[in-house]
Amino acid sequence: AVELNPVLQPLNWLLGCWESDEPGEGTFPTIKPFRYTEKLQFSHVGQPVINYTFNAFHAETNKPMHRECGFIRIQPGTNKVAFINAQNTGLVDIEEGELTGQQLKLQTQSVARISFAKEPHVQQISRVFQLRPDGKLEQTVTMATDNQPPSQHLHITYRRSS
Ligand code: HEM
Repeated sequence: AVELNPVLQPLNWLLGCWESDEPGEGTFPTIKPFRYTEKLQFSHVGQPVINYTFNAFHAETNKPMHRECGFIRIQPGTNKVAFINAQNTGLVDIEEGELTGQQLKLQTQSVARISFAKEPHVQQISRVFQLRPDGKLEQTVTMATDNQPPSQHLHITYRRSS
């Protein structure tokens, strides 16, 4: 195994594989509420960078749905974290924020998308990852679109799968 770059030590609680515990809840004022399952993988290759993939599936049919992948960096010697993200919907975004203990709070700094991305367009994303005292990981995502102010889109908890 490659040794963890010491810069990543404050984020070591994220590393590994996670699987939704029970289906996550998807909401937004303009859509029908839905349920989904999701697998997360956070890994490293010795660089001061975490590599991740998030794969979501339909809760009943198991059909692949939303996917995200990217990199997480931490500014050495600070609690400032950057999340460099690509989504299968044609969106790329950079989120930055702060690590406080085992809670990571992020907000979009910039968003870009393919020319034929579906509307409404996302204008802002904020998310929180939190390792709970019971060992479960929780993710909450809020977004704003062209026509909706910030509103919760996702809430899900995961258990460690390896
Ligand atoms: C709808 C963005 C993650 C499932 C939407 C909409 C947007 C959006 C802009 C359309 C809202 C509207 O019509 O007003 C995002 C962003 C995500 C994300 C930025 C990540 C940061 C996910 C995940 C799932 C998911 C993980 C899990 C399966 C859905 C579904 C809908 C939806 C089922 C409603 C149907 C549809 O419009 O396709 N999302 N989403 N989304 N999202 Fe997400």
